[in-house]
Amino acid sequence: MTAFAADWINLLLRWAHMIAGIAWIGTSFYFIALDLSLRRAKDAPAGVAGTAWEVHGGGFYRVEKYAVAPPSLPAHLTWFRWEAYLTWMTGFALLVVQFHLDAEAWLVDPAVMPLDTWQAVAISIASLAAGWLAYDAICRSRAGANAVVLACVVFALVVFATWGYTRVFSARGALVHAGALIGTLMAFNVFAVIIPNQKKAVAALLSGEAPDPRLGAVARQRSVHNTYLTLPVLLLMVSGHYPMLTGHPHAWLLVALIIVGGGCARHFLVHHEVGTPFASIAWTLPVTAAALAVSVWLTAPAPLDANATRGQRVSDVEVLGITDAHCASCHARQPTHPAFKVAPKNVVLETTGDLRRYASLIDLHTVRTRTMPLGNETGMTDAERSRLGAWLAAQPR
Ligand code: HEC
Repeated sequence: MTAFAADWINLLLRWAHMIAGIAWIGTSFYFIALDLSLRRAKDAPAGVAGTAWEVHGGGFYRVEKYAVAPPSLPAHLTWFRWEAYLTWMTGFALLVVQFHLDAEAWLVDPAVMPLDTWQAVAISIASLAAGWLAYDAICRSRAGANAVVLACVVFALVVFATWGYTRVFSARGALVHAGALIGTLMAFNVFAVIIPNQKKAVAALLSGEAPDPRLGAVARQRSVHNTYLTLPVLLLMVSGHYPMLTGHPHAWLLVALIIVGGGCARHFLVHHEVGTPFASIAWTLPVTAAALAVSVWLTAPAPLDANATRGQRVSDVEVLGITDAHCASCHARQPTHPAFKVAPKNVVLETTGDLRRYASLIDLHTVRTRTMPLGNETGMTDAERSRLGAWLAAQPR
């Protein structure tokens, strides 16, 4: 496949993924907020657990929720499931196009673990499947009966998986997989639990039996999980653009903080929207702020080790030798790397002028973190990074 075709497939999948994801998150948040805003109406028909009044787009809506199911099946019933399925399908396709087909560049970092492409792909797919099986088993176990215990165990599972990913994949590959794992839990909650349970309720209705109320309760538990996981997953999916996150030596800890901060933000947003008294949700604000503050503090750039660079005299010839060997195959006016037709992000690194122009970005991506060269394909050593850093530090600003 040419680099040009690959770029277009990548872009179109990403676009579709965002569209489906936005639709899914919208409905997911809407229904949880709707659920929380239900009130008992005196004139409600039998079986109705709550009624909500809403105003939107020029009209008033009165929505009623049947706790188990209505007495008979309505002719028109909207299921709200393709948003979830399509988000997962486009996301998985994107994972394949970007990380599996080009695993050497994006997924494998020989300095972390020297994997063959097929091994990296096998770990990627097997870990997503194993993560779902573990999560589902936990939800069905005794721990699943207590919401707080369950939240803690699922949190530990995801953080542990993230730590595992950072031990086998490249920095970017690891955090995207953490996001993909959470996204997989969410999509399979819909596919394997929520929709099947609703189908069982419908089947019971059609055969004139009363549906088991447990079916709805379990489905609701999984929907609630999904809304708590949504905000962290969004951040993880864009983390690849922020080497301060992916390149951090304890990226798993940042992911833990993001889950706590994002989960609390979700709690606040949804409850605030439906009018829960501020006093009972205010605690989420300092927790979110603290999680973010600790993340900022953890990722603050360490001052370059002055002793390591002091006294290092690095000539222009030497620094260009380093960047020719490690950067220029991609970052050239005419890249020689087969995956790139033009320099990625138009960052051309061929002359000392180029290096000065992008000095702070190079410093961040190559000297302070190891996100460049991509996947460390060229096997850049720490000594070379430090020589490059010394040269950059010596340049006039
Ligand atoms: C195998 C190809 C490849 C090699 C080799 C490579 N890069 Fe990159 N570089 C990329 C890609 C792809 C991107 C765009 C990443 C993205 O989309 O976030 C990039 C982006 C960058 C950016 C811009 C980051 C930003 O956020 O704007 C800088 C700076 C950079 N690389 C520096 C380097 C340096 C310095 C080297 C050599 C030490 C290097 N790269 C080697 C592929 C490469």
